[in-house]
Amino acid sequence: MKFEDIKGFAFDLDGVIADSARLHSKAWHQTADTVGTTWTPELAENLKGVSRMDSLEMILKAGGHENEYTQAQKEELATAKNTQYLELVKTLTPDDVLPGMKAFLDELKANGYKMSVASASKNAPTILKQLKVMDYFEGIVDPAKLHAGKPDPEIFSLAADVLGLAPANVAGLEDSGAGIQSINAAGELSIGIGSELSEAAVRFDRTDEVSLAAIKAKLA
Ligand code: BG6
Ligand code: MG
Repeated sequence: MKFEDIKGFAFDLDGVIADSARLHSKAWHQTADTVGTTWTPELAENLKGVSRMDSLEMILKAGGHENEYTQAQKEELATAKNTQYLELVKTLTPDDVLPGMKAFLDELKANGYKMSVASASKNAPTILKQLKVMDYFEGIVDPAKLHAGKPDPEIFSLAADVLGLAPANVAGLEDSGAGIQSINAAGELSIGIGSELSEAAVRFDRTDEVSLAAIKAKLA
């Protein structure tokens, strides 16, 4: 995609705008301890971008516990994780917008780009309000309405719809491999933040490296 084709941006939230990926990890680590699955950096990385119930299934499977819980017990485990996560979320303030992202949102707004949120998290509205960045966005895709989560393209396709733009005019920002696959499958420009994201069309190591000029330079 050419830089000039980009008319709007679809943002992942956890790990892209909000410093909240570490809070999800902290809460899931506790779940892993509860069910007896060893917590590893690889498991933590693979859970990024994955929905709540799918994350639980991955944690159970990683320890070989996938057949030990009823659906009702799984729902209890997921609810307990979310309760703990929301306790941690209460500590978030506007200072927990990741480095450089407030400046990037301001730059996009000043330059007339439209923005939407494509997060798998049902807690996205709560977090956006707490960080005081809700007003930047035309809308948020409701993950409860998805037929399939990331890496399926549905969420990023809907994020383009929210912007009233064709996928070919949208760039998506992600910190997860599942998210980058979703953006690519939706036919949008994938911008990855993180060293592991080899499938991203454009990649940065850290959020504070992201700017319009930097994206333009990488596409040239
Ligand atoms: C994603 C996170 O944004 O949202 C995942 O990267 C998380 O770690 C997923 O599991 C679902 O979030 P929630 O808040 O609905 O449990
Ligand atoms: Mg993320």
